[in-house]
Amino acid sequence: MLRRIISRKDIADAVRRLASAIEKDYGNERIIFVCLLKGSFMFTSDLVRYVHNPTRVDFMRASSYGTGTESKGTVEIKKDIEEVLEGENVIIVEDIIDSGLTLKRVRDMLSERGPKSVRICALLDKRGRRQVEIEGDYVGFTLDDGFVVGYGIDYAEEYRNLPEIYVVEEKATF
Ligand code: IMP
Ligand code: MG
Repeated sequence: MLRRIISRKDIADAVRRLASAIEKDYGNERIIFVCLLKGSFMFTSDLVRYVHNPTRVDFMRASSYGTGTESKGTVEIKKDIEEVLEGENVIIVEDIIDSGLTLKRVRDMLSERGPKSVRICALLDKRGRRQVEIEGDYVGFTLDDGFVVGYGIDYAEEYRNLPEIYVVEEKATF
């Protein structure tokens, strides 16, 4: 059973708030947005529409989850970006920070390529579940425990197309 927790309007408001915070921090400098596939494809596409800086978008795929709901603890880079990051401002765009393992691996990897700066923009932050020290610089919503889907976020590859965000609840059994 799915229970809606974040509406279309709440998402749109958060996206605009994050975009204007980003614009404020970067002046007119160029930003390379690194979209972490697949979960942040929708969030990234909405976010960049509201950032008026010179902008590039690239895509990376890291996997720590498989198709289950618990982190495997190891992070595999399945697809790297194509942009050269030397001297660039990089913002990694992630759907959810959970244990933090994925973002730590990705951030460390991109930081080694000589960028001017690397920051993290995450739509959702499950702060209580962190296993490594990592913070989002721009965060949409903080969540308690619970498994969510929609707005790009999947459960076993499904539900990514839902325009709003839902928590997956066990069916009540009587
Ligand atoms: P981390 O490496 O444990 O921080 O895992 C982050 C990744 O796990 C996210 O990018 C999501 O792909 C996935 N994830 C974490 N929580 C959820 C959830 O509630 N629903 C769907 N995917 C999730
Ligand atoms: Mg993900």
